Amino acid sequence: MEPAKSGRGPPDLLEAFRVAHEGKGPTHLSRAPGRVNLIGEHTDYNGLPVLPMALQQEIRILFSPRGDREIRVVNGEREFGLREFSISENIPPDPSGDWANYLKAPCQALAREFVATQGPSGLRGLNALVSSTLPVASGLSSSSALVIAMGQAVLKANDLTLPTLEFADAMARAERYTGTQGGGMDQAISAGAREGHAARIEFDPLRIFEIPVPSDWCFVVAHTLVRAEKSGRAQEAYNQRTRECREALEIVRGVLADSELFKGDTGSPGEVMGYSRLLESICIQELVELGEAHLKGVLLKRFRHVVTEGTRVYDAEQALRRGDRLTFGLLMNASHESLRNDYEVSSPELDALVALALEGGATGARLTGAGFGGCAVILSAPERLKGVLTALREGYYRNRNVSGPMEEVLFVAQASEGATVTKL
Ligand code: GLA
Repeated sequence: MEPAKSGRGPPDLLEAFRVAHEGKGPTHLSRAPGRVNLIGEHTDYNGLPVLPMALQQEIRILFSPRGDREIRVVNGEREFGLREFSISENIPPDPSGDWANYLKAPCQALAREFVATQGPSGLRGLNALVSSTLPVASGLSSSSALVIAMGQAVLKANDLTLPTLEFADAMARAERYTGTQGGGMDQAISAGAREGHAARIEFDPLRIFEIPVPSDWCFVVAHTLVRAEKSGRAQEAYNQRTRECREALEIVRGVLADSELFKGDTGSPGEVMGYSRLLESICIQELVELGEAHLKGVLLKRFRHVVTEGTRVYDAEQALRRGDRLTFGLLMNASHESLRNDYEVSSPELDALVALALEGGATGARLTGAGFGGCAVILSAPERLKGVLTALREGYYRNRNVSGPMEEVLFVAQASEGATVTKL
């Protein structure tokens, strides 16, 4: 057996590939990183910006194209078995939560995208082996990274290309196949990130604005050890919030329909008064007052979170660009409070991590991703990093059972490069 070369994956994965696929080795490696969102939570599906960066941990797919339409995928992890299906414009889904759905989603979407150009024989399939350095169900977007890596592999196997943003957008829509009404943040950063940079991402249309991360800003990721499932109860709570945000917007839109500001709004797609139009046209104080005057209960809370969080993203971007760590940290703290009190997606474990990090000397801390478990992201000055990590180890992890290496649940994030596919 030949020794592993850089970018080829460890020899045991190559061997596992051969064992699974009739002795033949892979021809390509497709990789897509996970992400940590620094600020801008539950804003993407409301058309408001987010500010994530890609992580050093990633999904890797070793693959080789096939002559027919079959997709045959094994997983480096034993808990995920072999999955086989034919690539077509209508692929029957597996039960909700099955990892095959994250393979099927990009396949069906790309088959539809290229139906006109590929002719009756459709897209070619592939043999693949998936491995991951990302903790599963950690809220660090392992599932979107899988969708991106698989989509990229299918494109390559068929000698097809799509511009990065178009591809990311298509994959974001594709992932709804799995039942989550997600926004487009995870796919966009996984596909389009630049090393050493975070990004402000805007939606409708999708755009990415790179922002260098100063070398003396340390972003720590700390896992609650509670799984952040993208299916089941968490999926229902997530989808519920997307509906509540739309409902709140409808009411505010109704209130403003007769106002001078929106008199000319004919309702054409470019003019429809979404959250981003509201934020552009009305200052945040007035917007919150408007919400308080016309919305009640849960709808008021969701509205207040969304519009203040959107504003915080722009403020945080400015702070990041001028190297103002203190302001960025304060915005992270405000984001967490809003997610806990108004959006109601935090948990006692996330709150505990945030409090411990701040007590340990962090500049700011908040939950990251959808919430309901998963991870917190913490900003620290380099000279305080040791104190922050010690506070978390002593205060949170010491009395809990961490199965596996500590670096998987508590690590310093490195802003990494977006997805790539290479020939082996
Ligand atoms: C999940 C979704 C994203 C985004 C976040 C919350 O990660 O996949 O699109 O909505 O939740 O900010």
